[in-house]
Amino acid sequence: MTILVTGGAGFIGGNFVLDWLAEHNETVINLDALTYAGNLDTLVSLKNNAKHIFVHGSIGDRTLLEKLLNEHQPRTIVNFAAESHVDRSIHGPGDFIQTNIVGTFNLLESVRAYWNNLDTERQTAFRFLHVSTDEVYGTLSQEDPPFAETNRYEPNSPYSASKAASDHLVRAWHHTYGLPVLTTNCSNNYGPYHFPEKLIPLVILNALAGKPLPIYGDGQQVRDWLYVKDHCSAIRRVLEAGKLGETYNVGGWNEKANLDVVQTICAILDELKPRADGEHYASQITFVQDRPGHDRRYAIDARKLERELGWKPAETFESGIRKTVQWYLDNPQWVDNVTSGHYRDWIDQQYGRPA
Ligand code: NAD
Ligand code: TYD
Repeated sequence: MTILVTGGAGFIGGNFVLDWLAEHNETVINLDALTYAGNLDTLVSLKNNAKHIFVHGSIGDRTLLEKLLNEHQPRTIVNFAAESHVDRSIHGPGDFIQTNIVGTFNLLESVRAYWNNLDTERQTAFRFLHVSTDEVYGTLSQEDPPFAETNRYEPNSPYSASKAASDHLVRAWHHTYGLPVLTTNCSNNYGPYHFPEKLIPLVILNALAGKPLPIYGDGQQVRDWLYVKDHCSAIRRVLEAGKLGETYNVGGWNEKANLDVVQTICAILDELKPRADGEHYASQITFVQDRPGHDRRYAIDARKLERELGWKPAETFESGIRKTVQWYLDNPQWVDNVTSGHYRDWIDQQYGRPA
């Protein structure tokens, strides 16, 4: 038996592949285009594992997909491949349209052709799981209930609009062609192997490097943090028992304002790796210009997943963030490798060149 994972050299996909191979005796074909966000260092522990087959390529390449699907005959596909960073989507939305919309379309068409040719038993067992985001639902006010699966789609950024479009394609391929799809919409992930353009790893690494900790606007935007291993367990559960054509919201019940998240990280670092000058890391906090169109609050109502499939997150924010900070302290080599080269260009573009 084989599964095909796309985007498995990225943050969540990489964690998913590592966890899958630790728990299952089943081959993983890992298709990843290795954009700036794809990193084979994350998968270095699988170097001699014959159950992991890495393929460098794009979900938009129909010829490659046809070959891979026919050769490996996967029973399941988990689609993580995407452009995923809101700030980059503001600077350059084109890649988001290409990968998240056109790429997903090409993947769906290749998978549909493959699935149509399977025998009935394999067709029935087949699953295409599309990994999406809570950002498709737009923004919440402080008083609104968290996002349920029945909320309207109201995406506000080029990133969330492109993910919303991909969700609609996946839904349509189920309703029109009968493709056995599942969609998960999850909240902000954090944990090991997170690329340091996103808030949590950026703050940990800037703090350790003695650099400013940039807080957009007033820092009171709320995100609902989900430990990445919990997200991976939710996806495994949805693959096992999710109802075809359904969507499942995945969240950690951890709503936090950005400023609180940053202060928590600073306090953990004060304890685990105190600054040499005895100052608190929080003294590095710097308020910077807000993100255009910045969504104020995201929060996930994950009760459907708990009620129907019995899934619950294992980590609280307090336990997960401590593990995460410790992981970054323990893995300077991984950090050094991802923060060289193009990473520096992005930091210069987004936060300005250091004086
Ligand atoms: P990431 O940016 O860390 O990784 C994306 C991976 O996809 C990279 O390895 C990249 O090389 C690969 N990729 C990009 N374009 C590709 C293409 N055309 N073909 C094949 N591979 C390609 O992203 P992530 O944070 O791991 O997110 C994974 C998925 O989860 C995305 O679909 C994202 O929208 C969704 N998601 C992420 C979060 C989060 O907090 N990180 C939250 C909700 C949903
Ligand atoms: P991010 O990690 O980019 O995820 P998303 O935009 O998908 O929620 O950002 C998380 C929150 O942190 C978001 O409200 C923007 C904010 N943020 C900052 O305040 N400073 C930063 O340098 C970054 C990268 C994000």
